[in-house]
Amino acid sequence: MSDIITATAHTNIALIKYWGKENVELNIPTTSSLSMTLDKFYTTTSVEFNSSLAQDTLILNEKEVDATRVHKFLNIFRSEVADFGPVLVISKNHVPTAAGLASSASSFAALTGAVSGLLDLNLLPTQMSRYARRGSGSASRSIFGNFVIWNKGEDDDSSYAESFLDADIEMSMIVAEVSTGAKKVSSTVGMQLAQSSPLYSKWQEDSAKQLENMKKALMSEDIEQVGLIAQDNALAMHELNRTSSQPFDYFTDETRALIEFVQNCYKEGLLAFVTIDAGPNVKIITNHATEQILLKKLKDNFPNLAFDLAHAGSGLVINA
Ligand code: DP6
Repeated sequence: MSDIITATAHTNIALIKYWGKENVELNIPTTSSLSMTLDKFYTTTSVEFNSSLAQDTLILNEKEVDATRVHKFLNIFRSEVADFGPVLVISKNHVPTAAGLASSASSFAALTGAVSGLLDLNLLPTQMSRYARRGSGSASRSIFGNFVIWNKGEDDDSSYAESFLDADIEMSMIVAEVSTGAKKVSSTVGMQLAQSSPLYSKWQEDSAKQLENMKKALMSEDIEQVGLIAQDNALAMHELNRTSSQPFDYFTDETRALIEFVQNCYKEGLLAFVTIDAGPNVKIITNHATEQILLKKLKDNFPNLAFDLAHAGSGLVINA
């Protein structure tokens, strides 16, 4: 067993969203979801046993921060595998934190990889996905690269992600950083509220159909269909938030302006669609042939925003 284990995981963007829990404690979702792992944003995490510490400690981007969530996560291994002493977790996020780019996905996937290495667990990727899910639902998908499906399952054993299409297709994603400030409603809280919407059961039913159509669109590399389905699924997800018992909205004026702009680009014949997570940032789905034209149009029309171009990326890597 090495003394320090390091793991790297990339973030992922759901094309069919996870937005509701059947079991809050275990992060068992109400729907299956499907995502693209991105090459651009990632988290690298190192772990080591450190008996001089009084408790599990988290250093994030060179600062000591609250380790409650990490401690809770490590306790799963303590109760399921074997008890162990305090762990020092040193993590670096190459993701704009808490701006809806789901850094919790790459963080808990990297932490899962590092801890399973530290404990010499020799887990299958699907078993790692199951642990990562307990840290943060979307982390279950960041174990794998390219296109990944998280079959909702019905209990702790059966709810994990697996590779759906392990190939880089002609798809591109432009991330518009509308805000890098902290989000108002965490995804954990947001999805619980969304489940109170009268539109929720319809969204769940539609999501199951969209998932099947998304699988076909990806298999046939039909990016237009991928974009149209992802956009419908995401916009309907945000409508749940606006119609929940305590209505809330992640969109800002800039989010709305970007959506309108992208939809106009599509009307003018460019391949361009939006998807949005638990924050104001807009991710724009396009293809390799269109990405530079679209990027230029976006930069010209939104000179104050930062844009990143991403493609499909790789899954978890553990270095002993
Ligand atoms: C909108 O995985 O962050 O990005 O399981 O409570 O940690 P918890 O939630 P989280 O939710 C992600 C929600 C989303 C959609 C998605 O990634 O599928």
